[in-house]
Amino acid sequence: MPQVLILGATSDIAIALAHKFGASGADLQLAARNPDSLQILKKDLEIRYQVDVKVCSFDATRFDTHQDFYQSLEVKPDIVICVFGYLGDQSVAANDWQESKRIIDTNYTGAVSILNIVANDFEQKQRGVIIGISSVAGERGRQSNYVYGSAKAGFSAYLSGLRNRLAGSNVHVITVKPGFVDTSMTAGLDLPKMLTAQPAQVASSVFSAIKKKKNVLYVLAIWRLIMFIIKMIPEGIFKKMKL
Ligand SMILES: NC(=O)c1ccc[n+]([C@@H]2O[C@H](COP(=O)([O-])OP(=O)(O)OC[C@H]3O[C@@H](n4cnc5c(N)ncnc54)[C@H](OP(=O)(O)O)[C@@H]3O)[C@@H](O)[C@H]2O)c1
Repeated sequence: MPQVLILGATSDIAIALAHKFGASGADLQLAARNPDSLQILKKDLEIRYQVDVKVCSFDATRFDTHQDFYQSLEVKPDIVICVFGYLGDQSVAANDWQESKRIIDTNYTGAVSILNIVANDFEQKQRGVIIGISSVAGERGRQSNYVYGSAKAGFSAYLSGLRNRLAGSNVHVITVKPGFVDTSMTAGLDLPKMLTAQPAQVASSVFSAIKKKKNVLYVLAIWRLIMFIIKMIPEGIFKKMKL
């Protein structure tokens, strides 16, 4: 059975992924800034699915700890899912470098830092799956969230490059673009129901994307069309739109 490492395991999408992979019999390593908060989830998963669940401490923005973090894993993973992220507040980020930096470091720099280490291990073993939860926000910068969007754009480009590098090494890299998801990150936002996935839907799509060898996954297919249209709008028109 595969060993699945979930980075940012307290997130709603991560919890759904833990259930999906646990139900398939995979052993789990749940990594988060506050591992104590994962104890109830760990017990639940162990009892429900009879799998081995370990919890460990991981902070995406403490880059200097990432090598030791990966080294310290007793069993190295077969599948790594990079779920952590930070939406932040664009209006704050525009005036406060610390907020911009937190958005960039959490969504981009931290992911590069840890996945560089994972990629080298998988390349050497000539197997593995790396999954990054990116965002459609990275496909075109908009005034309402362009710091987050640019960090996710960087992350998507990083995953694309990693996929290209590792294609000959039997390592599968999947970029996930979920569209809107009903999680604590979007709590309080008035999201259109038709365009909003549930965390369990994201988890099921990710799970089957591994089997189907998908490279880029739009959880709700409609988002592929929406983003195609958004990208086709000429810049002269786009810059005047309130998006
Ligand atoms: N919800 C959406 O509509 C949507 C759409 C597209 C993409 N996404 C992406 O999906 C992923 C999961 O988000 P979510 O919607 O499930 O929201 P969420 O429940 O708010 O999850 C965010 C997670 O990131 C973790 N995190 C933040 N900073 C971290 C750090 N420095 N180190 C380690 N973990 C850190 C949080 O951990 P703590 O518990 O420690 O705060 C939390 O578990 C994110 O990458 C997000 O950008 C979400």
